[in-house]
Amino acid sequence: MEITPTGLVDACGGADNVRRALRHQDKVIIELIELERVNQDVLPISTIDHSLRQITLDQPVSQGALTALGRVIDHNLREQAAPFYSPSQKTDFHRPGWHISPPQGLLNDPNGFIYFQGHYHLFYQWYPFACEHKDKFWVHLISPDGVQWHTAPLGLTPSDWYDSHGVFSGHAMVMNDALWLYYTGNTRIGPERLRQTTQCVARSSDGIHFEKLGPVIDAPPAGVTEHIRDPKVIHDGQHYRMLLGAQREDKIGRLAQYSSADGLTWHYDGLSGDSLGEHGYMWECPDLFQLSDQWLCILCPQGSPSPTPDHQVPHHNGYAKATLEADGITLDNWQVLDHGFDFYAPQTAQTPDNKRMLIAWMGLPDEVEQPSLSAGWLHQLTCPRELRWENGQIYQRPAAALQSLRGPQQLLVINPECHSTTVDLGTKQFELNTTLPIPTSGHYTLYFHSRSGMMTPASSGKPSGCALTIDGDSRTLTLDRSASLAKEGDTRRCIHLPEPLEDLPLQVLADTSSLEFFIAGGQWTMTSRYFSAIDATFFALTRDRHDTPLPKEMNWYALKNASVR
Ligand code: FRU
Repeated sequence: MEITPTGLVDACGGADNVRRALRHQDKVIIELIELERVNQDVLPISTIDHSLRQITLDQPVSQGALTALGRVIDHNLREQAAPFYSPSQKTDFHRPGWHISPPQGLLNDPNGFIYFQGHYHLFYQWYPFACEHKDKFWVHLISPDGVQWHTAPLGLTPSDWYDSHGVFSGHAMVMNDALWLYYTGNTRIGPERLRQTTQCVARSSDGIHFEKLGPVIDAPPAGVTEHIRDPKVIHDGQHYRMLLGAQREDKIGRLAQYSSADGLTWHYDGLSGDSLGEHGYMWECPDLFQLSDQWLCILCPQGSPSPTPDHQVPHHNGYAKATLEADGITLDNWQVLDHGFDFYAPQTAQTPDNKRMLIAWMGLPDEVEQPSLSAGWLHQLTCPRELRWENGQIYQRPAAALQSLRGPQQLLVINPECHSTTVDLGTKQFELNTTLPIPTSGHYTLYFHSRSGMMTPASSGKPSGCALTIDGDSRTLTLDRSASLAKEGDTRRCIHLPEPLEDLPLQVLADTSSLEFFIAGGQWTMTSRYFSAIDATFFALTRDRHDTPLPKEMNWYALKNASVR
């Protein structure tokens, strides 16, 4: 006889004893807190894994009973995560003042970024219980302007048999006045941690409470490994299209494409991306949108060839022009989106006035040894950026709403006679605007988050801080973060400055442990976390020769805290 939902939970030893549900080859697996509490007279068990505390049931379980089990686990997980979800966490001196960072635990990709019923909704990947990449939740934030956010009830928890090792990344869609979340369900089976991937849907009519509808794609297509994830769904005027980051069986990254008439039943249309050649072993986090009538596809290839010897980490970001065809898309003209260190898995949303706003993860997949670990949190998101399509490329500028954080405008005067200038800004939260002259020869360096601009022996006579050097001989702009307190990741990034550019407008957004550089009106951006001492509130500037031209003046604003941080 089929077991009832309550009968199943009771036989497992009660709601508080159920930890995780899984399904593998039609067998239901349940992970328990205490194996001894299971009632084997009611629940026939075929195998018990004592180290994982998992039982494999010897009888089929109805969809209703599995769903009910998911709701019980969801309740448990929300209770367990609640102490780590309070927005009023202790601050520490690396905690951003106005960027989004996790209250506790690890943050990674932004998810489900969308404007719905008068507000921006933004979710992010979160593991509450430690600064580790484990079973991910979706945190949910809501904002009127993309800057001041408030924390909504937790969006999604890894509660169900199809997502119990992580509600992985995905996007949101508005369909029939409801908010739909498409995401990847990640599960791992057995001690071998065999990966099982599904693409799932959750729906909400009020934008607060989500009902999981389960998998709409329950296995990878032929020729693709279980590394297929991060659904992006659009409506192209005729039907829905889903793009997924994917890995071919020969370990080549590609995009998988599906189409659907109703957003629920999906047809596999094949892989795209051959036109970009061999471009890494896996593509993650695609986004697809239009800017000034040009379709663009952002994605994050892993393991693609390094553009320079400075770039040692395997994680890349970029975009290609996309042409939408009846049964797929063609990509061409690959370009890097952000030239800094910490920029991954960006997502965009359409604003009510038809602009495109982007937010990315300010971090990278393998980098976890950061100084904020001791305070129990890790990583942050970038500021919201407005995108434009200009001169055949994406330009990124800070969203206009960020100006609401500005204090009074202040002038930073550079003495043209001096070899070096040092100014205590008294804060690590600021916006700085200037124009950098590109010298015909020689170089000068701007130091941010510097410690009294002091020349330390360790830095061989240079001021401390994150260094931005503009060099006229090589016509390069170099960002060097080797003085960061974080000892992981690349430390140098370089942009070539094409002729006939003579001046370089620069806007810098600084927050306690990060710097975002918007160069030449957003033609290039360089994004970097930068961990420094509590008193590293100085700005410094040095030049190699007394006749190297310097920026004449800089204006800057201290930036206030935002509501979620
Ligand atoms: C990118 C990523 C995604 C995945 C998520 C899991 O950072 O690996 O591909 O869905 O993180 O947290």
